[in-house]
Amino acid sequence: MEKVKIVFNLNYKDVEIEIYPNTRLIDMLREQFNLTSVKEGCSEGECGACTVVLDDEPVTSCVVLAPQVHGRSVLTLEGLSENGELDKLQQAFIDAGAVQCGFCTPGMILSGKALLMRKPNPTEEEIKQSISGNLCRCTGYAKIVDAIQIASQK
Ligand code: FES
Ligand code: FES
Repeated sequence: MEKVKIVFNLNYKDVEIEIYPNTRLIDMLREQFNLTSVKEGCSEGECGACTVVLDDEPVTSCVVLAPQVHGRSVLTLEGLSENGELDKLQQAFIDAGAVQCGFCTPGMILSGKALLMRKPNPTEEEIKQSISGNLCRCTGYAKIVDAIQIASQK
């Protein structure tokens, strides 16, 4: 199999890479770009741990092939903080106590981020809907909803 060249925007920088066309997006991000915030849980699009923002929609990167992001924008957790300063959503997760083991946290934050990019002042129902594809075994979800609400009010 021959590699293909893809060009896309990753965490606000234009990048290009040659990659086998059957490479999953999660593998390209973790292995070629060292973006290890992208977590692998179920590997079949069910748990949301591998969520990244593609343009302004959350996608589960374990079921997306790398060439599908050609010409598009991908955002991972690493792209959220600027000059060491946390994004307001990251800070809100800390302030609300919305993190326990942390495995679901990058995906949760990126699902929340995609929501706030599309809708800066979401309702509680919309927040719950936005994280409905992200599983958390620790927190019981209420503090995660609080965190996204806090960030939307800043
Ligand atoms: S690892 Fe991708 S959705 Fe679970
Ligand atoms: S904080 Fe542990 S899975 Fe969510």
